[in-house]
Amino acid sequence: MVQNVFAGKKIVIGVSGSIAAFKVAGWVSDLAKEEAIVSVVMTSSATEFVTPLTFAALSGNGVHTGMFGRGKEDAMAHISIGRDADLVVIAPATANIIAKLAGGIADDLLTTMVLATRSKVFVCPAMNVRMYSHPATQKNLKILKDLGYKVIDPACGKMACKEEGEGRLAEWDGVREHLAQSLSFQDLQGFKILVTAGPTREPLDPARFLSNRSSGKMGYALAQAACRRGAEVTLISGPSALTCPQGVTLFKVQTAQEMNDAVLAHAANSSVIIKAAAVADYRPETVYVHKMKKEKIARELVLTRNPDILLELGKRKKAGQILVGFAAESTNLLEEGRRKLLAKNLDLIAVNDISGDTTGFEVEFNQILVISASGAETLPHTTKLHSADLLLDRVLQLLSKKP
Ligand SMILES: Cc1cc2nc3c(=O)[nH]c(=O)nc-3n(C[C@H](O)[C@H](O)[C@H](O)COP(=O)(O)O)c2cc1C
Repeated sequence: MVQNVFAGKKIVIGVSGSIAAFKVAGWVSDLAKEEAIVSVVMTSSATEFVTPLTFAALSGNGVHTGMFGRGKEDAMAHISIGRDADLVVIAPATANIIAKLAGGIADDLLTTMVLATRSKVFVCPAMNVRMYSHPATQKNLKILKDLGYKVIDPACGKMACKEEGEGRLAEWDGVREHLAQSLSFQDLQGFKILVTAGPTREPLDPARFLSNRSSGKMGYALAQAACRRGAEVTLISGPSALTCPQGVTLFKVQTAQEMNDAVLAHAANSSVIIKAAAVADYRPETVYVHKMKKEKIARELVLTRNPDILLELGKRKKAGQILVGFAAESTNLLEEGRRKLLAKNLDLIAVNDISGDTTGFEVEFNQILVISASGAETLPHTTKLHSADLLLDRVLQLLSKKP
């Protein structure tokens, strides 16, 4: 089901006194842009690092800093803040907050609010490597996990204290996916989805190759959307600058032949296969071991046909399996789409119009013409992530009709 997962969701961010508190200002800003209703609760130490005004301005809401105080608007804030929250996220979570939560201590607004809430609580530790690896902290984190808190492991790397190791606050891209997944309908749970993305590179010599304009954005968006909706997602990607979405298993390939081998190795095990990669139809017949001097390169390249992966998948398609192809076309979108749907035994084909500069290769947006046995439909012009969700809705409908 298509969703802007964060829109209208009540998310409480608990900020404690770590040097990483400034990073969470960016998280709050991002969530507010995604139309989440963000409330921030800060410990007294946290206010030493970032002012409440920063979080108030970025969230568009008042910031809660203390449990007591005359003239407080809501004397029961420790109960009311978390009561109807969709999610609580403690970030950064200090060693101190983690220890207090593990012990059920409620001596400030943040810890009391967490004890009082019944919504899912994510904990994002951030601290010096030795504080993090200390047996007391590790024991407390284990207690939190056993109590049902969702602990998002910190990253490894250089720290503010100039030391290096595990304990850096997890990156927002990954954390956002954890939150999005927890807020999404899990309507693809139980399905294994194989997605391909990006171009392939067909080498001519160590410096040169034949390729195409595919950035991988559509395929990565499909993998991200399917993962958010609970599917077990494998992504086979040609060269792409994109980061693998959190929770997705990535295999990187270079050539069409490598893509072919990787896809066929995973295909039989997948309930749904979505081939969004732009696989090169041809490769140079001769690949030179050393870089060719320009004078020596033949003016006419001799090319060899690459395997047609989609055609092969169509031949091998198992009962109940859904096969989705992508076609990049600049003319006769409907005719070309219908021809490929039949020729390759697909359940669905997504045709991209690559003739303009607002859809197709490289850009953030897309407008897909979806064709199946039951007809053709032009989806709205929208972000690739939203396009992916709309396409997955059609896949889900087909899955429900299969035996
Ligand atoms: C400059 C500075 C940076 C600190 N950074 C961290 C940190 O990243 N993680 C952590 O657990 N504690 C850190 N501390 C220590 C905490 O601020 C301290 O334990 C405090 O009592 C935490 O209070 P709170 O958990 O109520 O926010 C830092 C302290 C200072 C002075």
